[in-house]
Amino acid sequence: MEVVIAPAGELARLAADAVEGLLRAEPEAVLGLATGSSPLAVYDELVARHKEGLSFARAKAFMLDEYVGLPADHPERYRNVIEKEFASRVDFSPGAVQGPDGLAEDLPAACAAYEKSIADAGGVDLQLLGIGTDGHIAFNEPGSSLASRTRIKTLTKQTREDNARFFGGSVDDVPRHCLTQGLATIMSAGHLVLLASGRAKAEAVHQLVEGPISAMWPATIMQLHPHATVLVDDAAASRLQ
Ligand code: F6R
Repeated sequence: MEVVIAPAGELARLAADAVEGLLRAEPEAVLGLATGSSPLAVYDELVARHKEGLSFARAKAFMLDEYVGLPADHPERYRNVIEKEFASRVDFSPGAVQGPDGLAEDLPAACAAYEKSIADAGGVDLQLLGIGTDGHIAFNEPGSSLASRTRIKTLTKQTREDNARFFGGSVDDVPRHCLTQGLATIMSAGHLVLLASGRAKAEAVHQLVEGPISAMWPATIMQLHPHATVLVDDAAASRLQ
């Protein structure tokens, strides 16, 4: 695992460098996209590079997760967030960005279909990740099977409280369930690039980098990945030895 400690603005550039390097070498690459606040500066940086010629026209992208039950037009539905923050600002082909269907009538079937879509695309080449304060990646909360694939999960109280800021501060408005790629799904990606900034992430980053591999800190599974990059600012790195 490669750990890079740098100012927040530099982290976004480093993550964008990895995406750009991949797309220049393989224009048909498959990207894995995270939502939440951590990757937003990366998306801004990629949009800037798109304006200077970086194309996503032949690429595909798969999102990590989605809330269950948010109405199709809800601004916090992850499909809508990715569209607004990134996909609509670059030149992906129609249908090239996919996410789990949190409005499906048959959610287990939607999860299985999502896994198949990723596999049919040849798997994710580069997966962007954030990390929850409880050590989740995607929405694999503590206790998640290290061998899990895309499935329904219940969000922890802590994650719902952390995400209330996106719902006008109201925890009650944060959905209780989500569909999320599993830890084994994420581990199948070619390169994992995780971003974390701020002191609130320090314990999770400490466990990720220095803790024992444990389902109670799901991100620790990344220690087993042959190509994982962890990009952290000083505050998020403050508990590293
Ligand atoms: C979102 C996701 C989550 C977030 C994590 C950190 O798609 O998969 O794991 O990356 O909750 O969220 P932020 O970046 O908002 O601190």
